[in-house]
Amino acid sequence: MWIFGRKGASGFSASSTAEEVAQDIDASGLTAIVTGASSGIGTETARVLALRGARVIMAVRNVESGKEVKENIIKEIPNAKIDVMELDLSCMSSVRKFASDYNSLALPLNILINNAGVLPYSFMLSNDNIELQFATNHLGHYLLTNLLLDNMKKTARDSQKEGRIVNVSSKGYQLAYPEGICFDKINDRTSYVNYRSYGQSKLANILHANELTRRFKEEGVQITANSLHPGVITTNILRHLGFVGGIFKWLSNYVNKSIPQGAATTCYVALHPQVKGVSGEYFADCNIAKTSEVAKDAELAKKLWDFSLDATLSNPIGRYFHLMYPTRLKRD
Ligand SMILES: NC(=O)c1ccc[n+]([C@@H]2O[C@H](COP(=O)([O-])OP(=O)(O)OC[C@H]3O[C@@H](n4cnc5c(N)ncnc54)[C@H](OP(=O)(O)O)[C@@H]3O)[C@@H](O)[C@H]2O)c1
Repeated sequence: MWIFGRKGASGFSASSTAEEVAQDIDASGLTAIVTGASSGIGTETARVLALRGARVIMAVRNVESGKEVKENIIKEIPNAKIDVMELDLSCMSSVRKFASDYNSLALPLNILINNAGVLPYSFMLSNDNIELQFATNHLGHYLLTNLLLDNMKKTARDSQKEGRIVNVSSKGYQLAYPEGICFDKINDRTSYVNYRSYGQSKLANILHANELTRRFKEEGVQITANSLHPGVITTNILRHLGFVGGIFKWLSNYVNKSIPQGAATTCYVALHPQVKGVSGEYFADCNIAKTSEVAKDAELAKKLWDFSLDATLSNPIGRYFHLMYPTRLKRD
């Protein structure tokens, strides 16, 4: 039975906060990118990493709100090393620009936290003409990770410190379509169910971390990749769910985590020495957790990798989806 305060093998529990799990960890000398740091779990993750001394780059689509968050963090932590850079994960040209700008800064990169996410109520296409959740939650992060990998590998080699990639998934991955990832239906409006599509994108986050792990092991690279469920937290992610979101918010007042608790697993996986060398695992409540068979499916992870690579290499990316599924690609 799930008990909120019960500690797992790590010594932490669902009620542990991000500050608690990161206590006494010296992250100075580490550089981290946190996507979606303008709100919710991402903001708290950026704050706690900065508190522990890491240099933090907040990768946000809304630079103004990112700057406000940064100012608030600096008010609390005057010596915080924190910067804001623009990144729209739903738009592959924005991802390319972010990575190119970042790499040209000659900054190292030890930790990449793929945290940003959306949960729209109805079917939406990104500007690249890809279903919005798959584009933002998975493809954008997939491309971002690939474009930053050389930097992470070099950083790990030069510093002799393990790099860490953290994919913020969700237990909602279990709600994905029965086939797992519906490669031929990603843009199919007629079969779209919002929570299933969200689950599909969150399953993709887990498979992505697993396939990264396989590749890193094969290459002998000193970088780990893990995924996690942060818990159920009342954040802005519910804002597009209307009435359903309202009911959920009301219910969650009784059962959910606070935002500091919601960011704990991310900070644990990103910083804690207990996680050194651990890769390809799925965490919840700051402990390794079990996943379903589909989330462990190595063939599916490889297929998703190849699909995502083909898609992100094609230019413009929407053309790839259009060529494969021409009749289904229509805007309202
Ligand atoms: N809250 C929960 O109960 C829960 C449960 C399981 C998993 N998660 C996962 O936790 C992660 C963080 O979510 P949250 O609850 O903290 O929600 P949130 O408060 O809505 O934060 C999501 C962040 O993602 C950013 N974002 C959205 N679309 C983006 C895009 N195209 N490009 C760049 N950034 C974008 C948002 O930016 P704007 O501020 O500009 O919108 C925001 O900063 C998500 O991956 C979510 O799936 C949350």
